[in-house]
Amino acid sequence: MVHNDQSLIIDPFITGNRKCEISVEQLLTKNISTLILTHGHYDHIGDTLAITQERPDIMIIAPFGIIKWLESQGVKNPMQGLELGGSRSQEDLEVKFVAAVHDGAILETGLICAPTGVIISIGGKKIYHAGDTALIDDMQNLAESHIDLSFLPIGGFYTMDATEALTAASWIKSKIVVPMHYNTFPNIKADDMEFARQLMLNKYATPKVLKPGQSVILE
Ligand code: NI
Repeated sequence: MVHNDQSLIIDPFITGNRKCEISVEQLLTKNISTLILTHGHYDHIGDTLAITQERPDIMIIAPFGIIKWLESQGVKNPMQGLELGGSRSQEDLEVKFVAAVHDGAILETGLICAPTGVIISIGGKKIYHAGDTALIDDMQNLAESHIDLSFLPIGGFYTMDATEALTAASWIKSKIVVPMHYNTFPNIKADDMEFARQLMLNKYATPKVLKPGQSVILE
């Protein structure tokens, strides 16, 4: 996510991600100011430790349990822990954690930390990143937040599937929906173009199916 030449990244799963076409080195050429982690699974914490080693100035925003784990790994970056429902504001960026229902394990550590979704308010726009989650009633309340862009998982197996994501989109009523969390592993195969077609047919939102490296501009 880029605003005023500052980049914000969420769940940097780069190494070992067969859908990711850039390296950590290439990512670090961007002017990253903030890194948000939604939960502790390896495909979300990803390259966080390598990134913080290279860039100890990046602000990390994550659930408290993950912040504690990062500290135990020697991470000295500025960090902000948030509880579900909590928010943090700095200049024109506000980050709020909202409910996600998913497993809370932090890697293989045996530690548990509640996973989250996140609402990012930046430059007058609101972006909802659902994290990994089942379809949950809480999403019905998001319509009040007037979300411009939602990132919704559609892969099934670990999260809600495309049919449930359509229901989520009908509740959230964001202008744009980007499908995510699919086709990286064999058990989360999903048909993104059919999902996009259904979003349009039902007038739930404008779909934007992104390939790696592609972007959406919010105007
Ligand atoms: Ni997960």
